[in-house]
Order: sequence, then structure tokens, then C-alpha cells
Amino acid sequence: MGDTSLGITDALVSVLRDARSVAVLTGSGISAESGVPTFRDAQTGLWSRYEPQELATPEAFERDPALVWEWYEWRRRLVREARPNPGHLALARLERRVPSFTLATQNVDGLHRRAGSENVLELHGNIVRSKCSVEGFEAEPRAGDESVPPLCPNCGAFLRPDVVWFGEALPEDAFVSASAAARTCEVFLSVGTSSLVYPAAALPSEAARSGAVLVEINPDDTPLTPHVDYALRGRAGEVLPALVRALDVS
Ligand code: APR
Repeated sequence: MGDTSLGITDALVSVLRDARSVAVLTGSGISAESGVPTFRDAQTGLWSRYEPQELATPEAFERDPALVWEWYEWRRRLVREARPNPGHLALARLERRVPSFTLATQNVDGLHRRAGSENVLELHGNIVRSKCSVEGFEAEPRAGDESVPPLCPNCGAFLRPDVVWFGEALPEDAFVSASAAARTCEVFLSVGTSSLVYPAAALPSEAARSGAVLVEINPDDTPLTPHVDYALRGRAGEVLPALVRALDVS
């Protein structure tokens, strides 16, 4: 039996149990329970006077590269200290049950892979990696490089975090694969995302147009909510484990 108090009905459990292909889109809400602050959360301490939208842009990096690098160093430390939570772990378990499973994430924290998910598409990059701000390819600082930001070992330009900033294009391969997964899946789960930031926010509609069953997991309404077949109101760390457990027992 599904947990009806969370909106997990027998009909949903049966659709998911029979699905041969599932696509998932996650946003920062799934990592909130791991203590990684979302962009739209209030910033703390030293960083509280800055708007994230003013730091996560190519213009901000051009204006003050050291400030932007230091902000990402602070976020990197939070990510290193964070652990995957029951929501991440439930998605890794779900992947092992479904023949074709794709997890597209807008998060840059790497927690899905650390939880054991394998087919992960990082649409907005990964905060742990760096890349050359001029040449664009992945690069790490030389040992002993104390400049802020550190310099590209190849060309001497500044390194920057390997994430997608506001106004930048998504990594094409990852987005093309996510889009294909959305168009071919039988069930699409949208988890912990405000469904406001495009193009990722277009993936659920692509899935719906191809006939997928849409499920949203979020404590609050989003612009996607009126279009979903099942809106599961609650925290990802509570709802996802309950959903996967329901598949095991039914
Ligand atoms: N479980 C599930 N959802 C949650 C939880 C939780 N425990 N806590 C919060 N949420 C929901 C919020 O209700 C909100 O809808 O997660 C969503 C977080 O929204 P955003 O902060 O807008 O995050 P996201 O959708 O990931 O943002 C997309 O925008 O800032 C850029 O590049 C950044 O990848 C990010 C993108």
C-alpha cells in the first residue's frame, strides 16, 4: 500500500513499478536537507550582503574575479562537508529497479553520485571542478599556486569554477541527453526545483508532450504544479524514501 498521507496512491505506485523508463530532474531542494543552501536561501555570515545572482555571472567574475572565486570556495567547503540525504539515496535505489533511468540535476554539489546514482547528467556543471576561464577546458591549479583565483597551468589565465553561470549555455551533451530521456520516459519526476530556470524547466513539458506521467515532489507549489498528474507535497528526504519503499512492499 502507498502512503496516502504523502499523496503516494496505489495508482502511482503501480505506474512507477511497471515503468521501463524513468527520467528525473532535481533542483536545490533535494540538497537542502544535506545543509547545502539553495541560491534563493538567505546567505549567511560574511556573504549575507551579496546577492547570489550578482556573483554567479560572467560579468561579476570579470569585475571582481577574487570575490567570485572566494564565494565559490566557501560553497565548495559546504559541499565537501555535506552528506547525501535519504532523498539522494532513494533515487540511487530507484535507478537499480528501473531498466532505463536518467537523472538530470541542476545541482552542482555532486551529491547524487556520492549517493550511488550512476546515470547522472549535471546540467549546471560541478562546483568541485575548475576550468580555464579563457580556453574553457577542465583544469586544476598547480600545487603551490597561491593566486586568487589560481591560474590555468596551460595559458596563465584565471581558473573559474566549472559551473554554468546566469546567462551562459548549458553543456550541450548533457542537455541533449536529458531532453532525449524526457521525450522517451514513461514517468518523469520533478524533485525540489522551483521550475523557474530555463532551459531545465522545459524538460517536464517535453516529457508530458510525449505522454509521460508527471510527478512533482516539493513542499510548495511551483509553476509546474497545475500540469502534473501527481503532486506529492513534502520534503524530498521524506517522500522519495516512502515512494521507493512502497515499490518494495507492493
Ligand atoms: N524537498 C523538496 N523540495 C524542496 C525542499 C525539500 N526538502 N526544500 C525546498 N524545496 C523546494 C522549494 O520549494 C523550491 O521550489 O526546492 C525548490 C528550490 O528552488 P530554487 O532555489 O529555485 O532551486 P532550483 O530550482 O534548483 O534553481 C535552479 O537556478 O539559481 C539557479 O543555477 C541555479 O541550479 C540553480 C537553478
